[in-house]
Amino acid sequence: PDQYAVFGDPISHSKSPKIHQLFAEQTQQLVQYTAQLVPAEQFTVAADIFFAQGGKGLNCTIPLKELAWAYAQHKTRRAQLSGAVNTLALQDDGSVLGENTDGVGLITDLINNHGISLQNRRILILGAGGASRGIIEPILSQAPRQLLIANRTVDKAVELAKIFSVVGEVDSCGYTDLCGEQFDVIINATSTSLSGQLPPLPGNVLAKNSCCYDLAYSNQPTAFVYWGLAHGAEKSLDGLGMLVEQAAEAFYLWRKLRPATAAVIALMNAQRG
Ligand code: ATR
Repeated sequence: PDQYAVFGDPISHSKSPKIHQLFAEQTQQLVQYTAQLVPAEQFTVAADIFFAQGGKGLNCTIPLKELAWAYAQHKTRRAQLSGAVNTLALQDDGSVLGENTDGVGLITDLINNHGISLQNRRILILGAGGASRGIIEPILSQAPRQLLIANRTVDKAVELAKIFSVVGEVDSCGYTDLCGEQFDVIINATSTSLSGQLPPLPGNVLAKNSCCYDLAYSNQPTAFVYWGLAHGAEKSLDGLGMLVEQAAEAFYLWRKLRPATAAVIALMNAQRG
């Protein structure tokens, strides 16, 4: 079988091997996909060894996405802008292409699985780290009415808005500036959910028929998912669907086949503790 893997640290709870195994069975592809614990300082050597041994493609997760970006010899424009790569694909000429499928995964989950369009809507992104960088360009491609990035360290939001101004209009602010504003979709791209914390949001920032989306996921609803439900969001979702959809996009890049995702998402949901 062709070899694929996900590198990350930590990695033991990764759902990617299961998801790709299901994709491979469904599309009848001979694919082996493993998870490897790779600390940041070992990334380059581990990736070199993986490809030297015939590996065809890698997924890279926390904390390796910026390193994978630097490792890729070519990058799509999307990946280039985002400064982070979650998918590496060996090309026919032996070079390695870097792509970021996170943003497309998010948009596909919102539109196809939840019927939530971003077009002409007011979008708020919380956080200005790597997770935010990966989703801004795909969100702008949906032609929102407004895209605002709020961050605790305001300078980082200003910097991101500047980088992506070549793609479309992006504004930036701090959390206190959100008072009196309302949004249709709020996306949590901070790392707060990992520690059960919340970004310091004012209580009334959700418009009618709004949606909250946490890029993080866990077996229980995240603190931000609970926050959305408590503050009147029509839907408050976590990132499990995005995880499956970004994997489908990586699978497509590698195998040129698009797996169906609904049954895989249903299964992953059923396997939550
Ligand atoms: P990632 O790659 O997951 O985005 P990161 O680059 O470390 O990780 O970014 C983490 C994001 O979560 C940042 O936007 C961070 O805000 P700062 O830039 O001000 O540090 C945000 N974050 C982390 N803890 C937070 C908290 N308790 N409240 C608000 N924002 C928080």
